[in-house]
Amino acid sequence: MAVASFLFLLLLSGLAGQPRGSPEMEEQLRGLTQQLLAAAKEPEFFEWMKGIRRRIHEYPELGFEEHRTSELIRTELDSLGIKYKWPVAKTGVVGFVGTGERPVFALRADMDALPLQELVEWEHKSKNDGKMHACGHDSHVAMLLGAAKLLQDRKHLLKGTVKLVFQPGEEGYAGAYHMLQDGVLDDIEGILSIHVLPDVPTGAIASRPGPMLAGVGIFSATIKGKGGHAAQPHNSKDPILAASSAVVSLQQIVSRETNPLEAQLVTVGYIVGGHAENVIPESVKFGGTFRSLTPEGLSYLQKRIKEIIELQAAVHRCEAEIDFKEEKPMPHPVMVNDKALYEHTKRVGEMLVGEENVELLPITMGAEDFSFFTQKTAALIFVVGIRNETLKSDRILHSPYFFIDEEAFPVGAALHAATAISYLDKHALGPMGCGDSFPSM
Ligand SMILES: *[C@@H]1O[C@H](CO)[C@@H](O)[C@H](O)[C@H]1NC(C)=O
Ligand SMILES: [Zn+2]
Ligand SMILES: [Zn+2]
Repeated sequence: MAVASFLFLLLLSGLAGQPRGSPEMEEQLRGLTQQLLAAAKEPEFFEWMKGIRRRIHEYPELGFEEHRTSELIRTELDSLGIKYKWPVAKTGVVGFVGTGERPVFALRADMDALPLQELVEWEHKSKNDGKMHACGHDSHVAMLLGAAKLLQDRKHLLKGTVKLVFQPGEEGYAGAYHMLQDGVLDDIEGILSIHVLPDVPTGAIASRPGPMLAGVGIFSATIKGKGGHAAQPHNSKDPILAASSAVVSLQQIVSRETNPLEAQLVTVGYIVGGHAENVIPESVKFGGTFRSLTPEGLSYLQKRIKEIIELQAAVHRCEAEIDFKEEKPMPHPVMVNDKALYEHTKRVGEMLVGEENVELLPITMGAEDFSFFTQKTAALIFVVGIRNETLKSDRILHSPYFFIDEEAFPVGAALHAATAISYLDKHALGPMGCGDSFPSM
């Protein structure tokens, strides 16, 4: 009995440590990651990545308008000798490296900018007024092209296919959803996306298994009343009062109807109505966002937002119309990182930057359209740190002062490439399987 349970414990502890392979596999993985990192740090390679990022940064383009960015990507893929499909969802590009056979692993970069005026004064400041790469998508493209070069230079090592996904329209356009409508990604078995983040210092990376970002919906409501003289409210139907009641009641979904231990959120972000002190207007518009870490929470919020706005309008003898922008499509699903893929990539990351530089990222109620990939395949976001106070690259995402420490690029490129190579190695079909090695690296 004692022996049996001891053996059982041994077996269990073996299983728990599964992401670590045999000592030889560990050594091979360490060698691979260090070689990739060293290659990406070579001055010529590093300058090439920086140049790509700076060119994209100077000419930022909004969602589904990334024509110039898309052309730059295709030109670079052409000179690397990498085949691709284009257009995928208007401006998107999908490159192919490897055998053309399964398994198929994908790497993703988004490529759109924000409608924001850059306030950083530097040599490569945005030349498109009112547009800025303030979410780092310019760097995502540069790091993925870096990975493309690393992989293409080692294509004989690939035991399957890597698809390089350059995605348009992340910032509110559901570009990920639209790319998935194209059959070119039907056969992927896993996908990694890298996002830069100033919360994490340069040289470090971070992620977490399971839910990481919220599922997000948006709504806009129009409350229609009956306009009239402010001195004769009885001859009007006041949409301002109806909207005010609705906005207050919406706050009670989270405070009164939601388990306090569950994260949910409703924010009304704008309200527009009326012009004059002595006029009751015809209608009022307002809108906002709702977020949750579960699909059930998301659909509950949507149902209650509709009910509350309609019923509060009715209380005040008004009518309401609510639009959830379902054609975008909205809501976006919860971003849930696949546990096995997280463990795999974390191990690769530990080899790459050292265990002390792989952080556990806190959950936030931010959102990413990359979450549409979770409905299709094992998906994972890893964050690459860019914070360096000296460079002032500690400004938050979407700030007009957002700035990137480009020293992070070799880490991002190598993490992409090392994850893909080792994933294919681990999932290779055929007799060798996991025990197969990285020959002659
Ligand atoms: C931050 O950037 C400065 C300027 O490039 C550099 O000298 C310094 O080593 C960087 N600090 C870290 C922690 O990387
Ligand atoms: Zn963003
Ligand atoms: Zn982003």
